Amino acid sequence: MNESLLLTIAVLGGTGKEGKGLAYRWAKAGYRVLIGSRASAKAVTAASEIIQLLEGSSSVVGTTNLEAAQQAEIVVLTVPYAAHRETLESVKEALQGKLLVDVTVPLVPPKLTRVQMPPAGSAAQEAKEIVGEDVEVVAAFQNVSFKYLLGEEDLDSDVLVTGTSKKARAEVLTLVEAAGLTGWDAGPIENSVVVEGLASVLININKQYGSKHAGIKITGVTRNS
Ligand SMILES: NC(=O)c1ccc[n+]([C@@H]2O[C@H](COP(=O)([O-])OP(=O)(O)OC[C@H]3O[C@@H](n4cnc5c(N)ncnc54)[C@H](OP(=O)(O)O)[C@@H]3O)[C@@H](O)[C@H]2O)c1
Repeated sequence: MNESLLLTIAVLGGTGKEGKGLAYRWAKAGYRVLIGSRASAKAVTAASEIIQLLEGSSSVVGTTNLEAAQQAEIVVLTVPYAAHRETLESVKEALQGKLLVDVTVPLVPPKLTRVQMPPAGSAAQEAKEIVGEDVEVVAAFQNVSFKYLLGEEDLDSDVLVTGTSKKARAEVLTLVEAAGLTGWDAGPIENSVVVEGLASVLININKQYGSKHAGIKITGVTRNS
């Protein structure tokens, strides 16, 4: 058995659009997935929706954000930016020694088409400041619309993966592949500003061209693996 499939992934805010889609994809790939929420009953409902979609053949459990973070090896954060700091502070202790995957785009309503980075440089760097030295932080999936995550279609959108170490980025590239997407090591966490900023560019493109799910694709590279 692939050793990575023995890992448990917590998706904090996994009751929402992006988190539920990613949770579905990883559960389908065979991972044990914990859906986290501020209200465990809401997470239990989201988990049973995913189990139903997968016709029972999956391990998905709904619980609180804190319990999910405590029980998982990899913790994925999918909450609106307004809830980013508060959610991270509430699970900070449980994250120590683990890998945090931050999906957050630091959007500041109502100007969603304008890049507005926090003082730390990006949401991912802000996360790193909050959770501290002993947590590897990787940013990923910011440019993947939730739109098709709950479906069976191939996703024509690449994932740029930035983060605090090459090893941590490689771990997340495995999760990207498991979700049925193509991922690229996009370098250190400082590069997250570009990837998170691209989300506003894509929202602008959606608005200008009447689409709902513009994405990105890397061209001109031959992959060895
Ligand atoms: N939607 C997309 O297509 C997409 C694509 C790429 C990246 N993202 C990023 O992914 C993140 C989640 O996006 P989303 O569209 O999934 O968001 P969402 O559906 O609006 O919210 C996700 C979850 O966050 C929790 N939440 C909402 N408001 C909160 C608050 N004030 N305090 C604490 N928790 C709160 C809720 O969970 P509970 O009520 O269960 O606690 C909610 O179900 C965002 O940062 C977004 O920029 C989204």
